[in-house]
Amino acid sequence: MELHIVIEGNKDLAGQVYRQLREAIRTGRLAPGEQVPPSRLLATQLGLSRKTVSEAYSRLTLEKLLVGRTGSGTFVNTPADARPKPKRFESRDLAAGNILAHWLKQSFPLSMRHVGPETRSQYDFLGGIPTRRQFPQAAWRQCVLHGLRQSGESRGVYAETEGLPALREAIARHVSFSRGVQCTAADVLVTNGAQQALDLIARVLVEPGSVVAVEDPGYPPARVLFAAQGAEVAAVPVDNEGIRVDLIPDGARLIYVTPAHQFPLGMPMSPARREALLVRARELRAIVVEDDYDSEFRYEGRPMDSLQSMDQDGLVAFVGTFSKVMHPDLRVGYVIAPPAIRRAMTIAKGLSDWHTPTMTQWALARFIDDGHLQKHIRRCHDIYVARREKLHAALNGDLKPWMRAVPTVAGFHLAATMTAEVDMAQLVRLARRVDVALYTLDEFYYRLKPQPALFFGYGAIESLDIEVALGRVKTILTELSA
Ligand SMILES: Cc1ncc(COP(=O)(O)O)c(C=O)c1O
Repeated sequence: MELHIVIEGNKDLAGQVYRQLREAIRTGRLAPGEQVPPSRLLATQLGLSRKTVSEAYSRLTLEKLLVGRTGSGTFVNTPADARPKPKRFESRDLAAGNILAHWLKQSFPLSMRHVGPETRSQYDFLGGIPTRRQFPQAAWRQCVLHGLRQSGESRGVYAETEGLPALREAIARHVSFSRGVQCTAADVLVTNGAQQALDLIARVLVEPGSVVAVEDPGYPPARVLFAAQGAEVAAVPVDNEGIRVDLIPDGARLIYVTPAHQFPLGMPMSPARREALLVRARELRAIVVEDDYDSEFRYEGRPMDSLQSMDQDGLVAFVGTFSKVMHPDLRVGYVIAPPAIRRAMTIAKGLSDWHTPTMTQWALARFIDDGHLQKHIRRCHDIYVARREKLHAALNGDLKPWMRAVPTVAGFHLAATMTAEVDMAQLVRLARRVDVALYTLDEFYYRLKPQPALFFGYGAIESLDIEVALGRVKTILTELSA
């Protein structure tokens, strides 16, 4: 990219270059550490002599705004105190959008924002992060190379909004096989994660004031997203069978649920509750969003039918993601939407981002087709089985006086509700001091009063570490109870 400098007339040419560069540095357009073009190149671009540009550079160097490094070039060297402080706009400075901007800042739970390794504890029960070490990096690299080749051979035009046919085929096979979802490639819309699928569903169904029913406790990114789109979000309590269908309000247009592995409590929705939910959706003529984010990892009992496969009326949108079976920064998910909203959702996706990057789509299609995904899921499954057993052993043993695990059959987190009086904030604080990161369920509650409970993600913690960490938790609990 060329540096934007405008030369007018023939007078004071070096001065013109000097002043514009100084201004660019002062305003931060040229950032500290940034390299400026070699004098010969800038001179050619501006139609000036090299001597003129060198003169401007020399003045800036004398003023310590530029610094020359032998063998590598000339760089911006703004001293820290002279650096312009960019004005920080707060949401209250904005005229119209302030309410939403301010509200969003407050509403999104801290624990669900990006957590860098620097803020992580050695023993971390963070949720939603799959095991990383076992990922078949070499196989994935081959698939990415394939993706690069395919992208290189394409004509460099926009691709199909719905997703590449190869990936839609692969996803249709994957969900029919592992989740019994009824679909063909034509029913699949590839999205940037489950989150975009939820966004698109809301875009085509939610108007200001539309009632959207969500589970309470539930998944905050879904709830906040619906509210941000103007929905009136109705918090519906859950019991040990899943969402209380009898409490879904009249007028609900959308019902968002996590039937395979309730987020965050973990229990599956019972078959009777699933039936009742579909009956209620039919009554309301509402769309049900079935967020099936991690149920490829199943541990007990017979697999339950997905709502989508039970639905005879075209009311269920099945949302899946590769964030749990692969990794979240891949940002690929999909939705098998009911026919009534499918076309509108595709248009909404096109308006949002045209399509998901094709290179990633090619790579992922190859990864699934070559059997790497199934193999990886099997490997992770075995790892999670071991970690889950370790957690259950502690919860049913050392930690039994204080808490009880909520029964789960899938995924890689579980919740434990407290059975003894414990100061939860104090417990979390003391655990951090001994390098154990614990999470309560507080941020997942919306309208209901939070139940004292802990959320144990076991994707990011090794089996042996679980023992050490929970040993430390037991010591703290014993001291707190003394
Ligand atoms: C309930 C639920 N849905 C969906 C997701 C995944 O979302 P995405 O595919 O956008 O990464 C998560 C991740 O933690 C989740 O907990």
